[in-house]
Amino acid sequence: MTTAMRGAMLSFRGDPFLNEGDDCLDYRPDGLAIFADGRIQAVGAAADLLPTLPADADVHHYRDSLILPGFIDCHTHYPQLEMMGAFGEQLIDWLNTYTFPVEQGFADRRHADDVASLFVRQLLQNGVTTAAVFATVHPHSVDALLDAAAAFDMRMIAGKVCMDRHAPPALLDTPQRAYDESRALMEKWHGRGRAEYALTPRFAPTSSPEQLEALGALAREFPDVPIQSHLAENMAEVEWVRRLFHEHASYTAVYEHFGLLRERAIYGHGIHLGEDELERLYDSGSAIAHCPTSNFFLGSGVFNLRRARAARRPVRVGLSSDVGAGTSLSPLVTLNEAYKAAQACGFALSSAQAFYLATRGAAEALGLERRVGGIAAGLEADLVVLDLKATALLEFRLRHAESLAEMLFVLMTLGDDRTVAATWVAGREVYRRPEA
Ligand code: GUN
Ligand code: ZN
Repeated sequence: MTTAMRGAMLSFRGDPFLNEGDDCLDYRPDGLAIFADGRIQAVGAAADLLPTLPADADVHHYRDSLILPGFIDCHTHYPQLEMMGAFGEQLIDWLNTYTFPVEQGFADRRHADDVASLFVRQLLQNGVTTAAVFATVHPHSVDALLDAAAAFDMRMIAGKVCMDRHAPPALLDTPQRAYDESRALMEKWHGRGRAEYALTPRFAPTSSPEQLEALGALAREFPDVPIQSHLAENMAEVEWVRRLFHEHASYTAVYEHFGLLRERAIYGHGIHLGEDELERLYDSGSAIAHCPTSNFFLGSGVFNLRRARAARRPVRVGLSSDVGAGTSLSPLVTLNEAYKAAQACGFALSSAQAFYLATRGAAEALGLERRVGGIAAGLEADLVVLDLKATALLEFRLRHAESLAEMLFVLMTLGDDRTVAATWVAGREVYRRPEA
């Protein structure tokens, strides 16, 4: 049977950091998207397309709503769900005190399955249909997440964390094990259904040069595989990298030296970067995962989004929760904080720019723009339905919104998981908010 969705729809046809916002928006006040085999077959005005549907078509009509491409979370850690909101520390102490103990629990596959299942359902409840996810050092922690995502046919990127120093012995692998286990997982998962595998060195301080070398070799052998790690999040971390890798010109230069900068390479944070480093990221096609709730929570600093996306060398940037340092899985809540981070840098992030970071911009950062991140024929049918009357306050406030831009801005300022009425994956409704 043909399935379709009807309602107000918004997608992006351009980059609102580089062009006038309105020129980038594809807005249909009464749109229709028709699905077939998990993809969007056609999109247009409901008045034009409804007559083309067979009589028995299953049309889901969402009133008082806004339909968007499913949100994409470019950087998050599913094992850290159980330590979100851990008090008092900044990055290095936070890792040692809270993160590493919790990640050791993933030696137990059953535990990994339980957390992965909860994590995937939480993503869907927040309207997130694709994420790039760090697992733990244990290969089965990747299986747990990708199995849980496959149950919903979600497009999901995941990788086994590689570390061979500066972490508890139970979380360490070796250069050879990192290579062998990553390769085996890649061969098992990359391109299976909607799963993709990402090479995942945690960050330079926890990998020896030999391990980075091994992962760089794997990256060269598999040029279309994503790479994910962390970069320049915290000043003490940057200083530590300077001492560990003193022969390299910068933190970014370390990853470049080992062949880990390229298209589909995405680095969390990138707060404390020099202009030369931003240029290297841009020239190589690498991306930054912007994690505002995490940056505020850990006191890491403020990411200067305007500088990163400067038109002369616009580094790709995608929105990210970075849970468990991040304090929310909701892209709406995360955008609220991204706005405040931008304001602290003297820049008012427009609502078009904001929603781009959570949809098409995120897809571009992950090299997935030909598959997800938009509502257009040929793309995979992943969508989120936002309820414009989700709360009494939102309904009241939106009565006073005079433009699409203002409506979007209020959604990202007042919205959260309650705003998500439904989430669709591969042309099927996989989450519907329970009735109040
Ligand atoms: N840097 C290295 N590992 C991590 C992590 O797990 N979370 C954050 N926020 N930064 C990191
Ligand atoms: Zn992270």
